[in-house]
Amino acid sequence: AAGLAACSTGTSPATRIGPASPAVAGAERARRATGAPVRQVSLNATVGEVDLGGTTVRTWTFDGRLPGKEIRLKRGEVLQARLSNGLPQPTSVHWHGIALRNDMDGVPDLTQAAVAPGGQFGYEFTVPDAGTYFFHPHVGVQLDRGLYAPLIVEDPADGADYDTELVVVLDDWIDGTGTDPDAVLAGLRANGMSMGGMGSMPGMGAGAMQGMGGTLLGGDAGDVTYPHLLANGRVAAAPTTFATRAGQRVRVRLINAAADTAFRVGIPGVPMRVTHTDGFPVSPRQAEAVLLGMGERIDAVITVPDAAVPLLAAAEGKDGYAQVLVQPGDRRAGVANDAALATLKTRPVLTVTDFAAADAVSLPEKNPDVMHDLALAGPSGKYVWTINGKTYDPKEGLPVHQGQRVRLRFVNMSMMYHPMHLHGHTFQVRGAGGRGPRKDTTIVLPGQTVEVDFDAGNPGQWLAHCHNAYHGEAGMMTIVSYV
Ligand code: C2O
Ligand code: CU
Repeated sequence: AAGLAACSTGTSPATRIGPASPAVAGAERARRATGAPVRQVSLNATVGEVDLGGTTVRTWTFDGRLPGKEIRLKRGEVLQARLSNGLPQPTSVHWHGIALRNDMDGVPDLTQAAVAPGGQFGYEFTVPDAGTYFFHPHVGVQLDRGLYAPLIVEDPADGADYDTELVVVLDDWIDGTGTDPDAVLAGLRANGMSMGGMGSMPGMGAGAMQGMGGTLLGGDAGDVTYPHLLANGRVAAAPTTFATRAGQRVRVRLINAAADTAFRVGIPGVPMRVTHTDGFPVSPRQAEAVLLGMGERIDAVITVPDAAVPLLAAAEGKDGYAQVLVQPGDRRAGVANDAALATLKTRPVLTVTDFAAADAVSLPEKNPDVMHDLALAGPSGKYVWTINGKTYDPKEGLPVHQGQRVRLRFVNMSMMYHPMHLHGHTFQVRGAGGRGPRKDTTIVLPGQTVEVDFDAGNPGQWLAHCHNAYHGEAGMMTIVSYV
């Protein structure tokens, strides 16, 4: 495009602004107010048994809980988190969506050394923006074992247009009785391909592909699939209950922590007023169903009806669902029936490009100083997922300079969802009239192109990758590199 200084060549590590550079320390100083309150937490990554609701599995969690214990603090506060690694593998913690100092981002070999079994690491950073976030390791496919927990940053200036809150973390669950995510990944690599990776689809619009979700793990009859879908650690048949009162306004914070499943979320008959995407406010929008890709979050306010209702999360393009029962008073709730699920699946489903950032968080209009294309493609032969034809190489990156307006263009040339996540920044999706929602993860539907803009103001080395844990690990990952 005319007037754009596009660069697409890699950078050598010698020219990079590294995680431990003065620029990174300077960015942290600029974020931290004198006397900012400090929150201390400890996180023990551990092996043990958890009850999914009648099914007990042996797996890896933070502190034996699924999801791990929520961390909640206020914007501007400092989080000090001490990680102890009780796992048989090295690990780390990545603070998904937080614009933090680069050396606390939790990416082994890029921003820190992995924490060895038996080892510890102290994370410390200022949390600059309010919102709904979560955290998970950034090693292999450990996320898919159950190592995740919500991170909620409150805004002291929030008008609080609701009475109470419900945090819902969604997950897909392999089985825990002999098959684990590492084995699944090894199996995919041995089989060499997935169902959705083949070919590009010129001219295929996203609309035409709605409903064709990822069936990656079911691609071969002998492959492992996800027998369970979880909401707050519980299978659909034994859901958690949210006790409330009719007429209460509930702020629901929905987090998709699944490795390979996008969810269609909604409460049949109860409209949701979507207020935030990935923590940042949008022009509020009524929705009956919203598609939530892996790594994406929404906040929505609902008014509790007189009778109990299921908050449903149906796996998009797959069978199965998860649920939380919203139960006013002491009325007993029924488990979601097929009719409620079928209703949800017929409702119009909103996705990223249906939302627009609130004025207060919209980026000022500006032409990009630099533009990078990221062509997303799947296996043809070997099980690798690529960006611009390459798998992850820590020596390469997409160069940006401090102060630049950067545009990333995600071009999905495959038949699967790719929820593309950028570390350390919240970009603005270019929607209608250029103004889409602020997000850090944007699902890119099969055949779709999504453009996002951000201002380069957080120096360091930042991953940009697909939040399908298997795609990311199989190569669909690159670095936005401050030089
Ligand atoms: Cu939640 Cu690099 O990701
Ligand atoms: Cu992907």
